[in-house]
Amino acid sequence: MKDHLSLLIPRHDIERAISRLAGQISEDYRGRQLVAVGILKGAFIFMADLVRQIEIPLEVDFVTVSSYDSGSESSRRIRLLQDMTIQVKDKDVLIVEDIIDSGYTANYVLRHAKDTGARSVAICALADKPSRRETPIEIAYLGFTIPDKFVVGYGLDFDNKFRHLPDIYTIEIDDEHA
Ligand code: IMP
Ligand code: MG
Repeated sequence: MKDHLSLLIPRHDIERAISRLAGQISEDYRGRQLVAVGILKGAFIFMADLVRQIEIPLEVDFVTVSSYDSGSESSRRIRLLQDMTIQVKDKDVLIVEDIIDSGYTANYVLRHAKDTGARSVAICALADKPSRRETPIEIAYLGFTIPDKFVVGYGLDFDNKFRHLPDIYTIEIDDEHA
């Protein structure tokens, strides 16, 4: 009847991870033309916290991609619902994603940014579930490696709920909802 949440990553750990990532990014992208591109909706909180710790000039943009997980898991068809609004040609794109699971979503956005003529494209993800990978992907900046559990909070949702929680939780989903 009730969705059971268990604390997985407390907010202070998230803060520490973001400081570390932002420090690396600030160093690596100094003197380059950084465009941070968040994947909506899941990355909105991560993006907001990350860019505020980055100490070099940057531009912020977002894309929205369709989720394939409503009944079409086998086809993995990903569609771009909303494209970037900034010209990224010859710029250095950093894709900001909440969590890498199969790898299809981030790879799709990576390819799209390359096709648009970005000079470089790299991925920054808050969390990674490597045991779920179905397509190879290079994550240049990673917050946490997590087990194969469904997680919510800090932007991540189940059924569009729980995004507002400041910490990250694992959720046990009732069969009734699954
Ligand atoms: P991928 O294409 O399989 O890598 O899926 C990545 C997307 O699935 C992420 O952008 C998330 O929106 C979603 N996702 C994957 N695992 C979780 C999870 O544990 N909680 C919430 N969303 C997830
Ligand atoms: Mg997402």
